[in-house]
Amino acid sequence: MMFQKTPKPPTSITFKTPAEIDKMRVAGRLAAEVLRMIRPHVREGVTTEELDRICHDYIVNTQQAIPAPLGYRGFPKSICTSVNHVVCHGIPGPRKLKKGDVLNIDITVIKDGYHGDTSQMFHVGVPPIAAQRVSRVAYEAMCIGIRLVRPGIRLGDIGHAIQKHAEAQHCSVVREYCGHGIGRNFHEEPQVLHYGEPGAGIELKPGMTFTIEPMINAGRRHVKVMPDKWTVITKDHSISAQWEHTLLVTETGYEVLTLLPGDTL
Ligand code: MF3
Ligand code: CO
Ligand code: CO
Repeated sequence: MMFQKTPKPPTSITFKTPAEIDKMRVAGRLAAEVLRMIRPHVREGVTTEELDRICHDYIVNTQQAIPAPLGYRGFPKSICTSVNHVVCHGIPGPRKLKKGDVLNIDITVIKDGYHGDTSQMFHVGVPPIAAQRVSRVAYEAMCIGIRLVRPGIRLGDIGHAIQKHAEAQHCSVVREYCGHGIGRNFHEEPQVLHYGEPGAGIELKPGMTFTIEPMINAGRRHVKVMPDKWTVITKDHSISAQWEHTLLVTETGYEVLTLLPGDTL
């Protein structure tokens, strides 16, 4: 997710040509394939830096692609691993996963100059019911947002629907980080807030590509950044969950660029 800043005029949104859309489809599929590849490795006892190494090697050697996080604004690893009360931007390290952990793995690859960005929640053993619940609410919130995507709708409509669902389930929406336009750049205009007012914000048009990636907390919405300058955690240490897809606005609706053939939302 990007670092939320003062909104810029929508003039810097890039509309992708058919040739660029083809490249975005490839990058999106590769990112999704990394998540599928890593799934059986996410087990009790594995460290998050082992997961990083496996993903890094797969992206670089098998996919012949580039792990976008590595070196991005100084980020030291190739993937983000955000465990339990970590909201996002968790740095892979020597911590071993244990039974009951929930974690987000966020994959962004660059292929042929274009980015694909997707993340999912993973469960180690059977997590506490509250952790399972916030994972599910975050997934539902993302899907509710995605299904609204079509020309003519406004970003505020999407943010509002996501917020309404999360809050109805007694969860909260993180406000400091948001979804983002994506393409040649990892993070482009527009910012895609996961809260908001119906009818507000820019209107979607065909050819736009952006992510929806709500961060949903089981407790209060407030977050803080750890001294490593990256790891974002919930202030109240409640569990946080996130899911992310990269989307294309089509003439009639949307295409999920980070969905594998045969998979559904
Ligand atoms: N993949 C994250 C996103 O969804 C961004 C991670 S930035 C990094 O936008 F530097 F931490 F990798
Ligand atoms: Co993103
Ligand atoms: Co991401």
